[in-house]
Amino acid sequence: MPSFDGLSVTALYLLPGAEYRSMLSIRPSERGDLRSVLNLLSLTGLPRSGVRSSFANFLIAEQDGSLVGCVGLELFGASAMLRSVAVHPSLQRRGIGSKLVAAAIALAESKGVDRIFLLTQSQADFFKRFGFREVNREEFDEPVRKSVLYSRSCPMSATGMRLRIGEGSQADPSQRYDSTNLSPPRGVLECGRHTKRTPSS
Ligand SMILES: CC(C)(COP(=O)(O)OP(=O)(O)OC[C@H]1O[C@@H](n2cnc3c(N)ncnc32)[C@H](O)[C@@H]1OP(=O)(O)O)[C@@H](O)C(=O)NCCC(=O)NCCS
Repeated sequence: MPSFDGLSVTALYLLPGAEYRSMLSIRPSERGDLRSVLNLLSLTGLPRSGVRSSFANFLIAEQDGSLVGCVGLELFGASAMLRSVAVHPSLQRRGIGSKLVAAAIALAESKGVDRIFLLTQSQADFFKRFGFREVNREEFDEPVRKSVLYSRSCPMSATGMRLRIGEGSQADPSQRYDSTNLSPPRGVLECGRHTKRTPSS
């Protein structure tokens, strides 16, 4: 079973032509992150209910000392609910969300989870990239239905999705981000594509 220890990885990267070094790390949440996470969820229109009780299983994306993204897991034995996948609007579509989801899948696996569920209103295509497949709400494992997201916060119109860990290798999309010379093993995060260009670049 993979260890989660290897996931708290920091990557330094420098794209050609850029003089700006940006540091992105994915790390476990700390109590002091709660307010920033709740603010980010508000900003991105995601439910905040149930965050406090599952905050021990949240991961934080931090860039240059700022919290720029988060993801959470609610654990129910061998099943889990993936929730609160959020990236600051100004930094979306730069690979951060993918790294968060990959890290959350690895975290779930390290906790003995073999089925991850989620509910999404508009991002089903994003999650398909990791091997999640659409399922009916009735196909959610019974314990997962206790999630506040399932029972209260997400509208019935939300799309249900399930990932069976170990089914295919889709859970590791990190190989798509091998444009740098870092090629970490499964679950370890490599650097992303975000950069700030200097005015002259
Ligand atoms: C969904 C979200 C977390 C994605 O994070 P992100 O950092 O923007 O995603 P990434 O940059 O890692 O995206 C990786 C790839 O998926 C693509 N992608 C991102 N969102 C997508 C979507 N909704 N549908 C299809 N593809 C998508 C990106 O274009 C990118 O493709 P590329 O590598 O070919 O360029 C982010 O858009 C967000 O915070 N949205 C608001 C909150 C939300 O709806 N969260 C989901 C809750 S269930």
